[in-house]
Amino acid sequence: MRDAAPQTIYLKDYTPFGYVIDSVQLTFKLHPTETRVLSKIAFRPNPEATDRTFFLHGEELKLISATIDGKEVSPSVTDEGLTVDAPDAPFTWEAEVEISPSTNTALEGLYMSNGMYCTQCEAEGFRKITYYPDRPDVMATFDVRIEGSEKVLLSNGNPGASGEGFAEWSDPWKKPAYLFALVAGDLINHPDSFTTRTGTDVELNIWVRPGDEDKCAFGMQALKDSMKWDEDVYGREYDLDIFNIVAVDDFNMGAMENKGLNIFNSSCVLASQATSTDADFERIEAIIAHEYFHNWTGNRITCRDWFQLCLKEGLTVFRDAQFTSDMRSEPVKRIDDVIALRARQFPEDQGPLSHPVRPEEFQEINNFYTATVYEKGAEVIGMLKTLVGHDAYYKALDLYFERHDGDAATIEDWIQVFEDSTGRDLQQFKRWYSQSGTPKVSVKEEWDAENGIFTLHFSQSTAPTPGQDIKDPRVIPIALGLLAPGGKETHPTHVIELTHAEQSLTFDGLDARPVPSLLRGFSAPVILEQEIDNDRRAFLLANDTDPFNRWEAGGDLARDTLINMILKDAAPSPAYLHGLRRVVTDESLDPAYRGLMIQHPSETELAGTLSDMGEIPDPTKIHIASRALLAAKAETLSDILPALYADNQPTGAYKPDAEGSGKRDLANAAMSLMAKLGDLSHAKAQFASADNMTQQFEALAVLVREGQGAEAVKAFYDQWKEDRLVINKWFGLQISLAEPEDAAKVTEALTQHPDFDMKNPNRFRATLGALAGNHAGFHHESGAGYALLADWLIKLDPLNPQTTARMCTAFQTWKRYDAGRQALIKAQLERILATPNLSRDTNEMISRILG
Ligand code: ARG
Ligand code: ZN
Repeated sequence: MRDAAPQTIYLKDYTPFGYVIDSVQLTFKLHPTETRVLSKIAFRPNPEATDRTFFLHGEELKLISATIDGKEVSPSVTDEGLTVDAPDAPFTWEAEVEISPSTNTALEGLYMSNGMYCTQCEAEGFRKITYYPDRPDVMATFDVRIEGSEKVLLSNGNPGASGEGFAEWSDPWKKPAYLFALVAGDLINHPDSFTTRTGTDVELNIWVRPGDEDKCAFGMQALKDSMKWDEDVYGREYDLDIFNIVAVDDFNMGAMENKGLNIFNSSCVLASQATSTDADFERIEAIIAHEYFHNWTGNRITCRDWFQLCLKEGLTVFRDAQFTSDMRSEPVKRIDDVIALRARQFPEDQGPLSHPVRPEEFQEINNFYTATVYEKGAEVIGMLKTLVGHDAYYKALDLYFERHDGDAATIEDWIQVFEDSTGRDLQQFKRWYSQSGTPKVSVKEEWDAENGIFTLHFSQSTAPTPGQDIKDPRVIPIALGLLAPGGKETHPTHVIELTHAEQSLTFDGLDARPVPSLLRGFSAPVILEQEIDNDRRAFLLANDTDPFNRWEAGGDLARDTLINMILKDAAPSPAYLHGLRRVVTDESLDPAYRGLMIQHPSETELAGTLSDMGEIPDPTKIHIASRALLAAKAETLSDILPALYADNQPTGAYKPDAEGSGKRDLANAAMSLMAKLGDLSHAKAQFASADNMTQQFEALAVLVREGQGAEAVKAFYDQWKEDRLVINKWFGLQISLAEPEDAAKVTEALTQHPDFDMKNPNRFRATLGALAGNHAGFHHESGAGYALLADWLIKLDPLNPQTTARMCTAFQTWKRYDAGRQALIKAQLERILATPNLSRDTNEMISRILG
């Protein structure tokens, strides 16, 4: 039973632990329901702490025995841990506990997935393995012995002795317990090796279930590329003899950077041409890089406490984005990231869940692995790099690694490094870490024709967010350029720094009124409000030299026409359609970029835009307008679609690289538009003959969207029923593309399918997550979508609080909608909150969403 009042933890209350640990020895005697864990830990008083309370975290553990310096002790034990009188001098703690991995459905601590043992300890899962000071500022070296009958027994660090039924591992690098990992199973490896720049040979392995061996090659290449890239770009070398990756089917998130033993959701590492889409390949490459890069930004330098989570996550996301830009296309990666930021982070920052990049309080830290901490955290690093410049950034990073290697650091430490190495005062910049909410930057123009002077008047403001009424001006880097009316760029990109609520910038000596191109490359995560009309957007779409802003101008035209279609029943705007035609036929642009230009803003994004404008979004109208614009695009481009389709069929063997995937993207867009015009022949032929999942799945999607997919859906299932990752796609597609009035029914039917398994997070997300992502379907006025999601969240919560709490975010935008929908959602939120024994995770999320 939970306490009536859940406890809130505050950043300001941080105090160090009373003891430091010199070494940890763990022995695991594996058993599905009665695993024994023996721990032997050398503690000594922490000279930097005053409080010597000896409290060890521990949850769901059966304590068998405990001794201090060999003498039995009787700790006082609660649901959260134990306390015992400990000496004010060095001592050895030994304990034996029993745990039950096979009944652990929360997938936190030690659990089982398809008969294999695995762990997930971040953030606070180690306390479900043994009694320990489970906090990231307590770091130690670990020696581990695993006893079990499985063929493969893995833990962190370098391998030691092994033999029949046992293996030993030792990790020479001090680490917090959240980076501990253990895997045991009858696994098969895909081996390789990497020689570091100083000549150390590192053994590499990707471990998978038998049958998945043929899906490892791409991930292995991504790992080697990442290792090389981190040496070349950041001067960071790998530091153990071996690096293992394990694929696990039941996993709450994407992957985990445990020292030397990364554990991955199988959907984030297994890849093959036949079963993975181009988007999957790119995502897998990025996640492998992300987890590998954590070895320095996260593991060698870790976080003092969980409030500092963005210290490792923001920086590591920034690093993996740099890697992807280098491996693929820089503008395309930037555009993809901004689309994702607007889709996931902006709604969070502007709703009831808004929190600073470095939160100052929480009840359950698992609820703060958010788009704000990760993606906005990465944007903050990007701004810092823009402000100090390329060379100063890398110089600061060198100092960061040198000064803090082996530390559990804070955001203050991070900022200090930049201040010391650049000599800049960054105290105002630091507000990006403490103030929540998305700033609005408004720009007014003034043209003095007589004297040729052009002035930009900027103002910035941020609306109040929960718990933060007053906002101070932030440092906002605005990258901008000027174009002459004829289209030529007269002032190339330069960066200005907004630091005040209001600020002006003047250009003189101009012959004619210029057109500014503002916030190039999306130089800050803000909402830009400028004086701009469709003529100017069309001008920028045609002439801007900044690829991001060119895309943005096209997107703004699309948004504007959609808003007019929704609010005024207007026809699609010719300015947008003509501009689109020009870009799509411009062969000098790379196909991936043209593929992006052909998309228009998602229905969810439009709901956000309308709500920003003070309008109440009507999901049905948005859906109808979005479909109508698709049809209008098809009409406008009808004569060029067949050639666009034919000319962009990649030739030669399938390659999931930027070029191949860009072409497939563009060809698929053409196929989709031809289908809108009633010509399904390409989709049907492509579905039948595709030799890769990108083309097969897109063809299936088009057929389903056009209401002609029944047969293909069945054929697809028959072809792929043995492949759980492909079947996740099959679940998701039918729900994402269901008509608004059918979405809840289709979802409900699929939850009755024999392959539906609520305990598998991937399958649960593919089903209920897809419902939440079908904007018009989830928000159908019947309320059936809301009720169905709530039913399943209530069912899942006792089994898996983390995944349940994460999916509550589907309701975070509820106050955007009309009174009828608000009442329906509120009733569901209250029903969830009233559920007896609701987890701390879900309780916190629903309470915050209700506000
Ligand atoms: N550190 C992992 C990563 O970003 C994610 C861990 C998520 N943990 C959690 N409890 N949600 O690579
Ligand atoms: Zn991470």
